[in-house]
Amino acid sequence: MAQIIPVAPFDYVVFGGTGDLATRKLLPALFHRDFDGQIPAGARIFAISRKDFDAAAYVAFVKSALGSSLAGADAAAVWRRFSARLHHVTLDAQSDAGWERLASALGPPTGHVRVFYLATSPQFYGPIARRLGQAGLAGDDARLVVEKPIGSDLASARRINDDIGAVFAESQIYRIDHYLGKEAVQNLIAMRFANSLFEPLWNSLWIDHVQITVAETVGLEGRAGYYDTAGAVRDMVQNHLLQLTCLVAMEPPQTLSADAVRDEKLKILRALDPLGDGAVVRGQYGAGAIAGTAVPGYAQELATGVPSRTETFVAMRLGIANWRWAGVPFYLRTGKRMARKASEIVVQFKPVPHSIFGAGAGLLANRLVVRLQPDEGITLRLMTKEPGPGGLRLRSVPLDLSFADTFSTRFPEAYERLLMDVVRGNPTLFMRRDEVEAAWSWIGPAILAWERGSEAPKSYVAGGWGPAAATALIERDGRTWHEELA
Ligand code: BG6
Repeated sequence: MAQIIPVAPFDYVVFGGTGDLATRKLLPALFHRDFDGQIPAGARIFAISRKDFDAAAYVAFVKSALGSSLAGADAAAVWRRFSARLHHVTLDAQSDAGWERLASALGPPTGHVRVFYLATSPQFYGPIARRLGQAGLAGDDARLVVEKPIGSDLASARRINDDIGAVFAESQIYRIDHYLGKEAVQNLIAMRFANSLFEPLWNSLWIDHVQITVAETVGLEGRAGYYDTAGAVRDMVQNHLLQLTCLVAMEPPQTLSADAVRDEKLKILRALDPLGDGAVVRGQYGAGAIAGTAVPGYAQELATGVPSRTETFVAMRLGIANWRWAGVPFYLRTGKRMARKASEIVVQFKPVPHSIFGAGAGLLANRLVVRLQPDEGITLRLMTKEPGPGGLRLRSVPLDLSFADTFSTRFPEAYERLLMDVVRGNPTLFMRRDEVEAAWSWIGPAILAWERGSEAPKSYVAGGWGPAAATALIERDGRTWHEELA
């Protein structure tokens, strides 16, 4: 049974309360925390949208969004409690009018932590923060949560950070990167810093290279308007993949406190080598098939009739200029419409310095694989002797830790942890302003160069592992993508 750490009563106010993120992630996450008994009496959830919902209509809307989560007698009982927490305020957050309705729905300060969650397009973060301030809602008990991407380049990120920072103190601002809430990602912190085994080996003396792959089978999922202006680099690399890189590469922080962890991540972001020529392959999926089902290409899915140069796949080789990692390439790749959904971090160790087994013994270097999803776990590949008399034949075998087999508890969704961390006031798993800006500073020049250039992303077949050039990117260095994936 997972341990539940109680939180104080709170108000969650979700802008974009009827949108995709709220219905697919935020409301189910809050429901599950209620199911597990973490949400205290008196906690309230307010959805803000332009829809003309009264409370009953909103409750019906959420009920249908929660769908199968409500199956079973226990869930039905929790739903009665949860639905009583739900409120809806009709408000156009893009207008200055009507904010007194929100203030009066919330009522006078109750001493509750008040979380304003902006599940909206980033261009509204600044204006909404300003209007919250004007409505007297940005007091000391208020916290502001903003989703990635924070801007689309360094200048726009700075503008957003300035705008929200003019109303809320940095300590009140929680910038979500939901990858940091994933169980397996937090486990990476546990694996590295709760075991003494890895640390002496965790450097360029013993590690040959690192691979980070986040492969998805989904395509646009109805988000064409956003995605076609973003692309895989802004959508996934600038945040999720760089955050994973930081957790793999950072020095041991002095404590788990927010600033200790974020200071170490920041040092990695600042130590990234500029992306050189040929270090990046961008791709865009064409038509293909995934698990036997035909899927259209990106252009067809966009259905604008205008060719798009947006990348849906990217592979890159990056270097970290510090003592620990000099000369160790980190290969990152992420893409939509890949062969299967799989995210993992592969740490490839160096071969033994000298083989006593002679040529042809098939010695393979050790490899540590951290599976983020699905089937979260850790595999360490070791060389062993094949059983049997006569000769000494070697075989690489996996030492396999599957979290699902080891722990009989439900694995919470990333948002469950993060939403409660905001209430608890624990920003360790959120991005600080300087991290976001350092990530944009590093990736921005490359994005600008592509946008100014004329090179189209390379086509790849949906249901594959990206363009051939991505294979060539790593093979040029005499390495291959982790074979169990590719
Ligand atoms: C989001 C991206 O941040 O992460 C999406 O905007 C992507 O494009 C999603 O699909 C992937 O998250 P997960 O948790 O399914 O790996």
